[in-house]
Amino acid sequence: MSPLINLMDYESAAGERLAPMVHGYFASGSDDQITLRENRHAWQALRLRPRSFVDVSRVDMSTAVLGQPVSAPILVAPMAFQQMAHEEGERATVQGTGRFGSVYILSTISNVPMEQVCAAATGPVWFQLYVDRDRDLALGLIRRAEKAGCKALVLTVDTPRIGNRESDVRDRFVMPADLRLPNLRHDGVALTQASEAPGSALARFAADSLDPSLTWKDLEWFASQTSLPVVAKGIVRADDAQRAVDHGASALVVSNHGGRQLDTTVPTAWALPEVVAQVGARAEVYVDGGIRRGTDVLKAVSLGARAVLVGRPVLWGLALSGSEGVNRVLSILRQELELAMTLSGSPNLAACTEDLIWSKRMVHEHERVRS
Ligand code: GLV
Repeated sequence: MSPLINLMDYESAAGERLAPMVHGYFASGSDDQITLRENRHAWQALRLRPRSFVDVSRVDMSTAVLGQPVSAPILVAPMAFQQMAHEEGERATVQGTGRFGSVYILSTISNVPMEQVCAAATGPVWFQLYVDRDRDLALGLIRRAEKAGCKALVLTVDTPRIGNRESDVRDRFVMPADLRLPNLRHDGVALTQASEAPGSALARFAADSLDPSLTWKDLEWFASQTSLPVVAKGIVRADDAQRAVDHGASALVVSNHGGRQLDTTVPTAWALPEVVAQVGARAEVYVDGGIRRGTDVLKAVSLGARAVLVGRPVLWGLALSGSEGVNRVLSILRQELELAMTLSGSPNLAACTEDLIWSKRMVHEHERVRS
């Protein structure tokens, strides 16, 4: 096999390794998968304006997120069912992320109990919360996350129900029978059970258990219930960004859930600037969706993101070689970012500013000055 040298290589190799139903669950987007594709294309379509003759003999990619130092502005997105990718599951992912020197965001839909994930961690862990209709269950998870040493609470705001992922519908997606979800009701055994009802067991479970009545007031309530900083994940509009901050969020993730929720939602590269313009001075803004190259990270930071979250590629690394694969995928992205910063004349992240991105406005301005 030829060496895996970029994140797309990992994607194809993992596609061959994983069982079709598992791969379908991880890889797919909703409906026609337009947002899934456009997330990627939107980063690719941005053009850079490198600065020349800058001293780039040292390039510093380090930064901090919510006060926690990270080796690069690259965090690991919350993702469910990681033991479907590798027997060590979330334990391996948190270890690979720790070795890389960044933040691991642990999904509510984790196969490994959060106490074990946190015990295996060598870096910061943030806990992503899906809110059950039973509020005590949600509060219980927050208390456990605080006790286990999680450093932030990430509230996903774009999932009153699960999007229409047709590969899961066709495959009648269920979790393998030997796995459990210790954060869910009855350890999530319902997710292992095929049903007479068509479709995905996850979608059925979520429709029964997730609270679809949540509003910004609930975000405020959750923020008042914990000493952890709250991150709102799933924002694609300036007005929602403002509401999130007004109701207690310390940080936001511009995200469309990797194209897995409402199809034809705006790509995150397009949504990021309005969110940064609205709340960037008051809250940290992160972005995810389609980040596959160091140049994508450079563009995101230049548009005002404090950091990016990477999802599926990390799972591909996990599937292929456990914690080592996770570390390798993240390290490839960091190496690419270092080269992109070097070639764009950006010796540190503060130098990654909006003027690095070419825009049509610049052409219009140029024409106006000339006329
Ligand atoms: C779970 O969060 C999913 O998007 O499948």
